[in-house]
Amino acid sequence: MANTPDVESTLISKDPFQETSPLPQPVFNDPKHHIKIFQGDCLEILAAIPEDSVDLIFADPPYFLSNGGITCHAGRMVSVNKGQWDRSRGADANHEFNRAWLAACQRVLKPNGSIWVSGTSHAIHSVGFAMQQLEFKLLNDISWVKPNPPPNLSCRYFTHATETLIWAAKNKKSRHTFNYKLMKEINRGKQMKSVWEILPPDRAEKRFGKHPTQKPVALLERVLLAASNQGDLVLDPFMGSGTTAIAALRLRRLFLGVDRDLGFLHLAVARFFGETCCVSVAVAAFHFDLDLRTTFVDRSGKQADCSMMTFASKLVHRERKYFFVGMHQREIIYSVVAPSIEEAWKSFQASRQSKEQVLSIIKTETEIYLAQ
Ligand SMILES: C[S@@+](CC[C@H](N)C(=O)[O-])C[C@H]1O[C@@H](n2cnc3c(N)ncnc32)[C@H](O)[C@@H]1O
Repeated sequence: MANTPDVESTLISKDPFQETSPLPQPVFNDPKHHIKIFQGDCLEILAAIPEDSVDLIFADPPYFLSNGGITCHAGRMVSVNKGQWDRSRGADANHEFNRAWLAACQRVLKPNGSIWVSGTSHAIHSVGFAMQQLEFKLLNDISWVKPNPPPNLSCRYFTHATETLIWAAKNKKSRHTFNYKLMKEINRGKQMKSVWEILPPDRAEKRFGKHPTQKPVALLERVLLAASNQGDLVLDPFMGSGTTAIAALRLRRLFLGVDRDLGFLHLAVARFFGETCCVSVAVAAFHFDLDLRTTFVDRSGKQADCSMMTFASKLVHRERKYFFVGMHQREIIYSVVAPSIEEAWKSFQASRQSKEQVLSIIKTETEIYLAQ
């Protein structure tokens, strides 16, 4: 992406005399990979983004379904409670909210830009109606089919096995991007239909923690591949655990995301580092008894228990080391052995480098136990 402008200059170049209030400080900014994340209400952040500046929006808004209902999770009956953010405020207020954020998204879309909104029956009809009221150009509604949906416990409905994605262009005049040939190629030479069978996120996608309504990266990759190009600016106003950011990063789109919940944003940033940073660990021992457990048992039947705590051992060394990763220069710009992050920061500041140069800090912790 050597010649790709960053998110900031893309935004500023659109309207240098913008009357909108300036964007607040992002909670995360990676100029190298063109990822910018803001914490706050999407209505406020969208109001600060210049008009006609975004190529593609993916929005996965509140479902408004966390109102004491039940569902089935891992074979058990559990109450539907995704969080306060998902509570219904009544049909009229929910619709007003949908209309407000959709209007704000329409303003920031480029003339040929398009928006995708995902949801279930609780919110998607209101979203579709609001889009008609705002005169978006409706392009498709995609049925995302989940191959293994949870069973319907009440046995009074069909099993809910789909979510809908509405795809719409900014207005009737828009000439939206559609990578038709690529979609046909992905679909083994046949025209891609509006029914997409994609598995929900697997364990690996949730290894940094869970978001209650996390979307699979494969779904977002399909959306971005279909309706945007490398170097385009993608916006997600309800980014949650950052699935859209991961797809944008992998497919070399610029990304700007918003969520109100700092906990979800921490998860998104952890997922981002899971994609861009790898710490490799190697252990070598010399003149060492290879079977630390010394008691001889047959372990072939079960998974080996690697815990050193199962036999007498002693902690002989502990070390915490902090590595400061550069914001622009993607290298370790400083490292220090310190007992805590606060001490590491003090030491970094004493080195007279500016904190603006730091993208992130990686902590490695080494504990060495020896069998006694
Ligand atoms: C359905 S989830 C999005 C999940 C996301 N697609 C993912 O893959 O992780 C909706 C998100 O919107 C956030 N949210 C709700 N109301 C908001 C608002 N007014 N402004 C910004 N974020 C909001 C919630 O915190 C929640 O994380």
